[in-house]
Amino acid sequence: MKLLKTLVASAVVLAVMPAFAYEAGDIIVKAGVVNINPVDGNADTSALVAGSELNLSSDTQLGLTAVYMISEQFGVELLAATPFTHTAEGDGGAIDGVDVLTTKHLPPTVSAQYYPMGADSAIQPYVGLGLNYTFFWDEEDDAGLGSNGLKPSFGLAYSAGIDYMINDQWLVNASVWKVDIDTEVKGGAADGLEVEIDPLAFMLACGFKF
Ligand code: NI
Repeated sequence: MKLLKTLVASAVVLAVMPAFAYEAGDIIVKAGVVNINPVDGNADTSALVAGSELNLSSDTQLGLTAVYMISEQFGVELLAATPFTHTAEGDGGAIDGVDVLTTKHLPPTVSAQYYPMGADSAIQPYVGLGLNYTFFWDEEDDAGLGSNGLKPSFGLAYSAGIDYMINDQWLVNASVWKVDIDTEVKGGAADGLEVEIDPLAFMLACGFKF
């Protein structure tokens, strides 16, 4: 009887003890929406059109992140998404308000992450440092500059986020990346034109821990 009582008590303790903390070997997959917001003034086109620059539009797509936990406090994250489309609009001069270029791109990013809350905690904030590779395709030369598109970009990505564990397996997540994306126009009248995108990316997601 005493043994039974002890067993029941242990089972109750196990049932109420939170098991939120991440462990080595955990895989956390999150899916949600990602908004990519380029900085203002992405290209100085004043050498081509007096007093003008280009501004890139923002875009929202479906995003997917997968995190592999190396230990309780360190993880590796891959960010993937459906293709983003940005239009470069002229600002100032003769191209004010004119769509100059439209492009699709994908910015896959791999980051090393640190989770300071090592102990069992339903809230798991983290910071990350990673590498981004962005490639562009399906460029539309809306203004007839004769360009052949944009060069791919390699750059650093700084990230931060927070997971809130609803239970041991489901979570909600908010995260942000600051990505260094710099590219150049290839060919045509704007050949070599530097385009600095350097966006902030925001993601809201639901996740599942395997
Ligand atoms: Ni940059």
